[in-house]
Amino acid sequence: MTITRLRLGVNIDHVATIRNARGGDHPDPVRAAEIVAACGGDGITAHLREDRRHIRDEDLARIQAATSLPLNLEMSATEEMLAIALRHSPHAACIVPERREERTTEGGLDAAGQHNRLYPMVQRLGEAGIRVSLFIAPDERQIEAALRLGAPVVELHTGEYAHAEGEARVAELRRLADMAALAAKNGIEPHAGHGLTYDNVQPVAAIPQLAELNIGHYLIGEAIFCGLEPAVLKMRELMDAARP
Ligand code: PXP
Repeated sequence: MTITRLRLGVNIDHVATIRNARGGDHPDPVRAAEIVAACGGDGITAHLREDRRHIRDEDLARIQAATSLPLNLEMSATEEMLAIALRHSPHAACIVPERREERTTEGGLDAAGQHNRLYPMVQRLGEAGIRVSLFIAPDERQIEAALRLGAPVVELHTGEYAHAEGEARVAELRRLADMAALAAKNGIEPHAGHGLTYDNVQPVAAIPQLAELNIGHYLIGEAIFCGLEPAVLKMRELMDAARP
């Protein structure tokens, strides 16, 4: 089955990064969420990190109150984050690996190696009506693990693709396409994200099984120069053009 409309989830974490640099309340990620909603974004993604370096607890309810867009909460697999997710009941929860010393989410979740830890978490989120997504490398072992865990969604980490060049990039793209197809064939909805830009988004957007891309850092960076609405609209246009 070919999914024709590819959703764009906008990750607004780095609006909060700039806010937090001065400790005040400007720029407000809620204003970013409102702009994304007004210009046709399909969802808001926010990562509540354990160290709260960008999004803070109180931002979640404010984002949810400000727009009717689905909130995709990125979270590490901890009891603290589980409790927060259950309290806020976002549309989706994307479980990501998290290391304090990393600058960003550098790799995929080891869903295969952490089955016993993840299983109760996936169950509890699912029972609460939260759509669980696992942020994994485009790797067959991880898709099989997601299937065993009963996750309805996987988000394929596009970081390796984004950083690769030449033949290596072609190989990474093939891996993404194969794993999106494998996930879809097994009834798991594939999403993708990380490191996507105007220059590299189209080959990923053209993968027919992908239902959603989550894009943050580049869009917020571009927004500094041209505004958030034009940045989102241009990304949307590129995604649409890649998928007739
Ligand atoms: N998806 C997930 C699961 C992520 O952790 C991130 C980064 O926080 C993104 C998408 C967005 O990546 P980027 O900011 O590089 O666009």
